[in-house]
Amino acid sequence: MDMELTKQEQEMLDGKGGFAVRKSMEILTALGNIYGAERLIRVGSVQVAGVSYHNLGDAGLEFLNELAKDGRVRVLTTLNPAGMDLENWRNLGISEDFASKQNLVIDAFERMGILISCTCTPYLIGNLPRYGEHLAWSESSAVTFANSVIGAKTNKEGGPSALAAAFVGKTPCYGLHLDENRVPHVHVKVNTNLTKLSDWGALGYVIGKKAENKIPYITGITEADMDELKSFCASVVTYGAQPLFYMQGITPGADNHPVPKDSVTVDDSDIKNAYDCINDEVTNIELVCVGCPHCSIKEISEISELLSGKRVAEGTEFWVATSRTAKQLADKRGFTQTIEAAGGKFACDTCMAVAPLKGRFKSLATTSAKGCFYSRQNKMLTKMGSLRECVEAAVTGKWS
Ligand code: F3S
Repeated sequence: MDMELTKQEQEMLDGKGGFAVRKSMEILTALGNIYGAERLIRVGSVQVAGVSYHNLGDAGLEFLNELAKDGRVRVLTTLNPAGMDLENWRNLGISEDFASKQNLVIDAFERMGILISCTCTPYLIGNLPRYGEHLAWSESSAVTFANSVIGAKTNKEGGPSALAAAFVGKTPCYGLHLDENRVPHVHVKVNTNLTKLSDWGALGYVIGKKAENKIPYITGITEADMDELKSFCASVVTYGAQPLFYMQGITPGADNHPVPKDSVTVDDSDIKNAYDCINDEVTNIELVCVGCPHCSIKEISEISELLSGKRVAEGTEFWVATSRTAKQLADKRGFTQTIEAAGGKFACDTCMAVAPLKGRFKSLATTSAKGCFYSRQNKMLTKMGSLRECVEAAVTGKWS
């Protein structure tokens, strides 16, 4: 049965709100009908992925320009990372040609009324939902964070469906918007100590694979800070299928569910195996990139402390990927100065997965399991370790 539309929604579908709204309603009703949604629901905010010209190409740019003619967002809408630092792209070796195309993409989004935030951590820069709020977000790590750590409700939207939700202010009510689809079905017993940030990426790798298609209910973890959780969110959804988990005593909503009977365990050997699978045989490191998901101000302060008085090795680049908002705070606190004095570079608005890096670097060191996944697609050999190990790799040019 087709989704039921209100009078106003039907008028939008009939073209009363203009071209972008009609197109958006076509996308939303098609999705709703495919997935059996009964209606559209209001969303509190939208987060749009598919921002890098590297992924969009000319066809994507043309589509955005068409929508930007009369499309204006109706709710707070923020952007995922673009293909370059919007201010400092030359410093990252981006070509003039790429930069001019990327700027056209950004210009189209700006005309739509979207906040040019260019970050995968919208919850750190002002797009912070409340518990239970419906959203239409598209970046997988942010979707997992919103669903699990905040307790908001969003499907993993594609770029076009997120934009459509922004123009209409609504999304079809199916999937993770419905409580019956948010029930955990596998108990994951964690019997190992996590001692550094990259261990959370390794844990995400293990749970993503062991949970298969099921929503995990995780026990055995007594402490987790925001940076650890964002790292875990990025990894568990990259290597698994579900952008939602429960962590007993840590995330909201866990107590509303009984512990599932079906169970798996994670022990030291699983974590070691994850590192073995994620790490390649490589010693010389050409790029060290931290900030996947984008670095918080706390992580930047730690990097600054570790790099203070040191020098990035010749032949190696050290990038700190973060939001412009976090960088502005780092400027104020002097962290930027310390990192740049050591030869490090800020990669604001962008990241190692969406910047055009293929062919530029042969090897990468990072704290992020998700970063390794995408860098391998860019034909790099990867090493994952702690912030300290990454800074050491930047300073020596080698992974020890
Ligand atoms: Fe963010 Fe890019 Fe990683 S979008 S989660 S920094 S791959």
